[in-house]
Amino acid sequence: MRLRVAIIFGGRSGEHEVSLRSAQSIIAAMDRGKYEVVEYRIGKDGRWKPGPILPEPGANAGIDVVFPVLHGTFGEDGTVQGLLELADLPYVGAGVLGSSVSMDKDVMKRVCRERGLPVVEYMTLVSPHLDPEAVREKLPFPVFVKPSNLGSSVGISKARDREELEAALRMAAEYDRKVIVERAIDGRELECSVLGNSEPVASLPCEILPSREFYDYEDKYLTDGAQFRIPAELNPAQTAEVQRLAVECYRAVECEGMARVDFFVEHSTGRIYINEINTIPGFTSISMFPRMWAHSGLAYPRLIDRLIELALERHEARKSIRYTR
Ligand SMILES: Nc1ncnc2c1ncn2[C@@H]1O[C@H](COP(=O)(O)OP(=O)(O)O)[C@@H](O)[C@H]1O
Ligand SMILES: [Mg+2]
Repeated sequence: MRLRVAIIFGGRSGEHEVSLRSAQSIIAAMDRGKYEVVEYRIGKDGRWKPGPILPEPGANAGIDVVFPVLHGTFGEDGTVQGLLELADLPYVGAGVLGSSVSMDKDVMKRVCRERGLPVVEYMTLVSPHLDPEAVREKLPFPVFVKPSNLGSSVGISKARDREELEAALRMAAEYDRKVIVERAIDGRELECSVLGNSEPVASLPCEILPSREFYDYEDKYLTDGAQFRIPAELNPAQTAEVQRLAVECYRAVECEGMARVDFFVEHSTGRIYINEINTIPGFTSISMFPRMWAHSGLAYPRLIDRLIELALERHEARKSIRYTR
């Protein structure tokens, strides 16, 4: 019997188009001898086609496992994961808590810091209290200003002086009430993929070489200008450290299934900083997550098998948990 896998894609976030491309490449890589694919496409208006997954156990007869391929808000942030919990369906990737913690850059950094993991100096401002003077007292220029909950570099800018900072705060605040400001790191950008539930493992890291001032939306999706090195050119100790930190970060935010952890290596100090964790990383044909695994010995179709196995395993393990006295 083939497993019926529901792929949810599209969605209301700014990463709708990227999600379509990710889903396309996942569907193309799935072994048809093992899986029957059922597509659920969510429009930009939030409407599901052919219809929504229902939030009741047993109401979605025929679905064995769900693969949410939604990037960003209303998909990667725990909302869809909550629906799937209510429906009692196994699903690929992080649960509600891991998803929402990972999505919020401020909470994610707090959780990492509590574990002693290296995150860059930053501060959090909440609208309407976006005081540039408070930033100037605490952080040296240049700084990066970001909406706390978003992705794909949307709403992010680098500020070199007071005037740019004011504009950057205003822009970030259009996307989230919570804005974070960080010291800008002059360094290399690395990414490392993680797979697993209770025993997560890390792939070989890769390096991103942005073609622009930073790895912005243009570079990610419009110009294809950025270059990649897989594996990243690192010495064995650096590779091991990036892999260790990737797994530690994954555990700290209580991630399950998969994630991609992104890093900076500062030129002047050689220090490695965790930048962020993405619980539904890009899966397009050129995306780093599947390519890092391919370089680590796990070809794309096997990667999908593994993700589905992990989803089923977690669902099975939860069955023994009591929810009432
Ligand atoms: N503190 C920082 N120092 C240097 N570059 C940064 C910093 N924060 C972000 N960037 C640049 O901005 C890009 C996007 O920021 P990131 O935090 O990864 O947000 P997103 O979730 O949108 O990908 C990074 O890939 C990097 O190029
Ligand atoms: Mg990023």
